[in-house]
Amino acid sequence: MRSTIQNLEESKIREVANAGMGRSDVLAFWFGESDEVTPDFIRQAAIESLQQGETFYTHNLGLPELREAVAQYTSKLHRRVTSDRIAITSGGVNALMLAVQALVDAGDEVVAVTPVWPNLTAQALIMGARLKRVSLKPVQGAWTLDLEALLAAITPATKLLIVNAPNNPTGWTLSRAEQEAILAHCRKTGTWILADEVYERLYYEETANGCAPSFLDVAEPEDRLVVVHSFSKSFLMTGWRLGWLVLPASLTHNMGKLLEFNTSCASVFTQRAGVTALQRTDEVTPRVVAHLKHCRDTLVPLLQALRQVQVQPAAGGMYAFFKLDGYADSLEVAKRLVAEAGIGLAPGNAFAPEAQGWLRWCFASKDVARLGQGVERLRSWLAAQR
Ligand SMILES: Cc1ncc(COP(=O)(O)O)c(C=O)c1O
Repeated sequence: MRSTIQNLEESKIREVANAGMGRSDVLAFWFGESDEVTPDFIRQAAIESLQQGETFYTHNLGLPELREAVAQYTSKLHRRVTSDRIAITSGGVNALMLAVQALVDAGDEVVAVTPVWPNLTAQALIMGARLKRVSLKPVQGAWTLDLEALLAAITPATKLLIVNAPNNPTGWTLSRAEQEAILAHCRKTGTWILADEVYERLYYEETANGCAPSFLDVAEPEDRLVVVHSFSKSFLMTGWRLGWLVLPASLTHNMGKLLEFNTSCASVFTQRAGVTALQRTDEVTPRVVAHLKHCRDTLVPLLQALRQVQVQPAAGGMYAFFKLDGYADSLEVAKRLVAEAGIGLAPGNAFAPEAQGWLRWCFASKDVARLGQGVERLRSWLAAQR
């Protein structure tokens, strides 16, 4: 076993969840997924595919129909993208890993904006990268980017910048102007940008296209930019494992080779479900986003009413990320909340050392009343500690 793998930190989110899984008395908000099942018409598309005997491999890069559907979907939201720039993957996390495998050699410098979902930094470490973290800064419960500090950290020695916006866990989002500045800088330093935009549709500010700002709005087709997407969040399809990459066309052929050696292809009936989801986006995504906004706007004021909590409504994503004053060790407090209060949250230090003292609450709850019940448990637990 490579020492790099042996030394990988286990997920602290899992550590907390393992302590409470299977306990029906725990209100779980620790993982980043909705508790609502995939819409029936998407499930039917997979069933029909299986019934027609579609049980074989597809092209490494995915079904041509799905690549075309993704290209059209992307082009509606952003600048025009052609299907030769699309690779279908087995989920967003697989897309991220493929991108890092394609771009990072052992010893390369990788800059990551943190706090961030730990998979993004772990993947670079698996490839043997030298990881440089640039931290967002919390200002009264909201995390903000020091753009100058980020640009100063990216030099000609930087192979790859990893940035996730809208961000898990903080909800922070890049502005168009920041994306333009980062892109212009990375063009000068020759740095690749790996943009994780899986939460682009889960965005609660007013915009013309209903999306968070995307690097695909500002970049040219041959810029050193790889964008990661997923069906998981905006189509309620976490368990299906389906995502995609938007690449410069010059990378697509080699990405197909890499796909062969990872998963060979995404499963075909899942891809058929993906085609249907994209064709009927308007029947799913706007409803999901409106519901999530309602969840956010229910949870955040309740949390803000607690004296020890510092939190701001996230511009995007599905999380309330909050500081709990008086509790310095997030992992310890998260475990205590499971055991003593019956509420499951993710510890902030799972996402970066600088988020120690913070907790992440996934507010994607079909039953909004669960959020209020969770806050009530937190409130009475806090009261009992005095
Ligand atoms: C920031 C971020 N990127 C990517 C993913 C991957 O999602 P999936 O592999 O389900 O497509 C997640 C899942 O939580 C995420 O939070």
